Amino acid sequence: MSTVKFYSGETIPLEMHKVRIVQKLNLVPIERRLGAIAEAGNNTFLLRNRDIYLDMLTDSGVNAMSDRQLAAMMEADDSYAGSETFTRLETRIQDLFGMEYFLPVHQGRAAENIIARVFVRPGTIVPMNYHFTTTKAHIVLNGGSVEEIIVDEGLQVSSDVPFKGNMDVGKLQQLIDTHGAERIAFVRIETGTNLIGGQPHSLQNLREVREVCDRHGLMLVFDASLLADNLWFIKTREPACRDMSIREITRAIADLADIIYFSARKLGCARGGGICTRSQDAFLKMRELITLYEGFLTYGGMSIREIEALAVGLEETMDETMISQGPQFIAYMVEDLARRSVPVITPPGGLGCHLDAMRFLPHLPQAEYPAGALASALYLVSGVRGMERGSLSEQRGPDGSETFSNMELLRLAMPRRVFTLSQVKYAIDRIDWLYRNRDLVGGLRFVEEPKVLRFFFGRLQPTSDWQERLLARFRADFGDSL
Ligand code: F0G
Repeated sequence: MSTVKFYSGETIPLEMHKVRIVQKLNLVPIERRLGAIAEAGNNTFLLRNRDIYLDMLTDSGVNAMSDRQLAAMMEADDSYAGSETFTRLETRIQDLFGMEYFLPVHQGRAAENIIARVFVRPGTIVPMNYHFTTTKAHIVLNGGSVEEIIVDEGLQVSSDVPFKGNMDVGKLQQLIDTHGAERIAFVRIETGTNLIGGQPHSLQNLREVREVCDRHGLMLVFDASLLADNLWFIKTREPACRDMSIREITRAIADLADIIYFSARKLGCARGGGICTRSQDAFLKMRELITLYEGFLTYGGMSIREIEALAVGLEETMDETMISQGPQFIAYMVEDLARRSVPVITPPGGLGCHLDAMRFLPHLPQAEYPAGALASALYLVSGVRGMERGSLSEQRGPDGSETFSNMELLRLAMPRRVFTLSQVKYAIDRIDWLYRNRDLVGGLRFVEEPKVLRFFFGRLQPTSDWQERLLARFRADFGDSL
């Protein structure tokens, strides 16, 4: 991706790829969308693809593949043990990360399971810049606890701080002083924080965290699922790294880690995942569990074609024009919405554009799930599917009380190389319209609430007839338009 300046003065991100295979999309009329969202219990996870125009639920497993990835998939060398395809991936990992040992897993959370089982003991703590849902679940399942020590700016919705995903090194030191290094299972950095809006960390921050870890003999683990975006932000936002290539930045990051794991549904635009290390001891401890939970060491639950696509995808991640597409499309969307005064997380991060539902719908209390209501309303007026990342995604306390999240966000993920700029402009226009008509949007209440991971399967209904009134306003403004 690169940006070009038009004769008019406007600057836009310019795609550095062309589309060679397409999938037909449907934009069903708003009346059908009202039916569809009711059938889905106002939960965007339960919508069916045939009713969705732009699927911005996630960037996981839905990134576009390149012609080279597809070609490589046809050549995959399949065998239970000893496949050449696996060796190609292992060699690529060794080359990019400079780590000798690689363990394949079927997806990111499987790596989290293995790492938590081996290194987390009851009563231990895992300090991290910020948690991801599956990461925390595995640590807690093994008797550990999570301490989030993100810099204070990390939780400020609007900001111009370039690295809101940094770990607060002072807080890390304090935590060690309070609990003692022996209570710390390992220190974890998410290289590109998911739940606070894809905000990156700097290379300098990793160096400082490494120093503290070295002083106390602590292991440093990177979750590199969102690494591609973070590499781009380091290159463009960290002056000391401006002249480094993406490959050099990748190696500089990897040199600071003891273990790197990732979801290949994001990193490498494929499927699967992996754990990398240069410690033979750590490798041997984890290896036993790979064969138990994932599969033999040369596939780890991945299909051989996915492994081949991943090997190529990782190499393509070193291409600036490839990894800049996501962040530049996201920046275009965030900046345009911010100019229209729509509340969004700033500065633009990776992964997607995040709407701040607390400011979008200030009249709704958290108990009526503003981010969930916004997800439902946006689908209704546009056919765009986002993901609630607020209190609905939390779990009730043991006494049944709600756990209100720090932020109420609607995440509009930007799968890499999937959407065109006119589709992004369409989403911006409908979000803008919804913002002007936000007074019409009401809350949601549960009608079916599962005890665990309620956001996946829970069903809700509107607290009033606000959806019918929103539909009527849409028809008044847009006439017959979809
Ligand atoms: N770590 C991070 C930072 C993630 O974003 C994810 C997945 C995982 C681990 C787990 O990986 O899905 O392959 O098992 N994030 C997806 C999302 C689910 O939609 O953001 P997985």
